[in-house]
Order: sequence, then structure tokens, then C-alpha cells
Amino acid sequence: MDVQPIERAATGIYGLDDLLEGGFPRGRTILISGACGTGKSIFCTQFLVKGAIEQGEPGVLVSFDETPHKIRQDMLRFGWNLNALEQKGLFTILDATSARAGAPSEEENALLPGQLDMDKVLIDILTLCRRVGAKRLVIDSIPAMGQQLEREGDIRKTILKLSYILSRAGLTTLITSEIEEQSIGSGRSLTFSKYAVEEYVADGVLLLNFLGIGSSEVRTMYIRKMRGTKHSTNIHPMEINEKGMTVHKIENVFK
Ligand SMILES: Nc1ncnc2c1ncn2[C@@H]1O[C@H](COP(=O)(O)OP(=O)(O)OP(=O)(O)O)[C@@H](O)[C@H]1O
Ligand SMILES: [Mg+2]
Repeated sequence: MDVQPIERAATGIYGLDDLLEGGFPRGRTILISGACGTGKSIFCTQFLVKGAIEQGEPGVLVSFDETPHKIRQDMLRFGWNLNALEQKGLFTILDATSARAGAPSEEENALLPGQLDMDKVLIDILTLCRRVGAKRLVIDSIPAMGQQLEREGDIRKTILKLSYILSRAGLTTLITSEIEEQSIGSGRSLTFSKYAVEEYVADGVLLLNFLGIGSSEVRTMYIRKMRGTKHSTNIHPMEINEKGMTVHKIENVFK
């Protein structure tokens, strides 16, 4: 089989493509990790929204963490009308929160309560992606998905399976995971995700950090790995404002 050079998918995060030779490697899985409130969900939604608006690429957001209603509301703050994109078939939310709560969903696309058998979930996600012609996929978050699976006992095996299936599906996928705040930069922990396996199966790992002290806040982003890519190795200042998320070059901030 012919081997083609890596294609790039624009990340949609202002300033980030320049640090990644033009974007994420297409068809690969990237882990977005960080403590709570570091901007993981905004990052992932922006990747889908900008992919839809600027590249015309349909995206699917599988949300285990936040209800679709809240996501639509929160994203309006950045001027992103998800409803309008959904109507055009460019953005689809798969509601996994109601299934987690064991309640029926009001959403058009939802996992059914009691239907959290992982094989079935994976088939549902891929079927939906195929139906809408998705090029981009987000699974937010692996720990929330894992909470369901604790009963099954083998979360790591499930994540491995997920990554294998995704690697064959050709979708550029972002998954999110959590890292404890105190373990970042302290040298006490060398893992970058909750179950540690996410960072190994992912082709790329981005670490988001947030330090809020009084009225000042510092957000940063660090590319820990990106296979097949000559990427920045700096810790970059990051900003969330009314337009969404921006990553700054270090020289732009300190000059
Ligand atoms: N409109 C906005 N303008 C500026 N900052 C915002 C805005 N909306 C949210 N934020 C910041 O982003 C944070 C939430 O980001 P997000 O939900 O993406 O974090 P997360 O890493 O997914 O968190 P969690 O782990 O709880 O899911 C808020 O706590 C706030 O600091
Ligand atoms: Mg989140």
C-alpha cells in the first residue's frame, strides 16, 4: 500500500497551527489534558466549530460531561451558534450525559440509559460519524466515560480498543482527560492523564494549565508530544476571551 505524507487539520485555536507545522496530523487521536477549568472543553468545541465554519468539515461531539443544552448556551458567549451549525449538518452532539444519569434524553442523538456497554457505545459513535460524514470527532471526557466502565473493571483495555478503532476510522479525534493540579510541574507525577494509557495511545498530547491568583490569571499550553511533527517545545501563554481560545508565541508576550 502506498504511504502518503501526513496531512494537517487546522486546529481552529488561534495561534496554534503555527506551532504544529500547520495543524494536527489528520486521522490521528490527540489527548487534551489538564486540571478542571483549564479550558479542555472549550478547546475541543472550538476545534469542531472552526473546522465546520472555516473548513466545511462536519464534526461530532460526544459529551459525557456537560449536557448539550449547557454546551450550546456556553458557546454562544464566543459567538458560536451551535444550533445553526447543527441545522446545516456541520455539528452534531451525541448526548451521553442522560445515559450516565439513567434518564431519557431530549436530544435527537443520545445514548440510551443502560446502554453503556462499551462495544455498543463505540459502534454508536462510529455509526453517527459515518451518517453525518464527520471528519472531526471529540470525546469529552475519558474519565467521565470511564466512570461507567468501572463496573466492567477494565477501563484501560477499553481505551486501547477505542484508540484502535479510531485509528482505523480516519477521523481526526480529540479526547480529553484529567490530571491532578499539584502533579503538574512538581515532578511528583509523570503521567499526563487519569488512567495513564490515554497518553500512550494518543498520537499527540497537549497539556493545559491554569493558575488563578486574585485578579490575575495565567493560562498556559504545552505540546508534550505530537508524532510525525516538529512542534514547539515551549510552555505557551494561552488566553480565553470573547472570541474563544488563543495560544500566544512566547516572544509576542515577553517583548
Ligand atoms: N466567555 C468566557 N470568557 C473567558 N473565560 C471563559 C469564558 N467561558 C469560560 N471561561 C473560562 O474557561 C473555564 C471553563 O473552561 P472548560 O469548561 O473548557 O474547562 P475544562 O478544562 O473542560 O473543565 P472541566 O474539567 O471542569 O470539564 C471557566 O472556568 C472560565 O475560567
Ligand atoms: Mg470540560
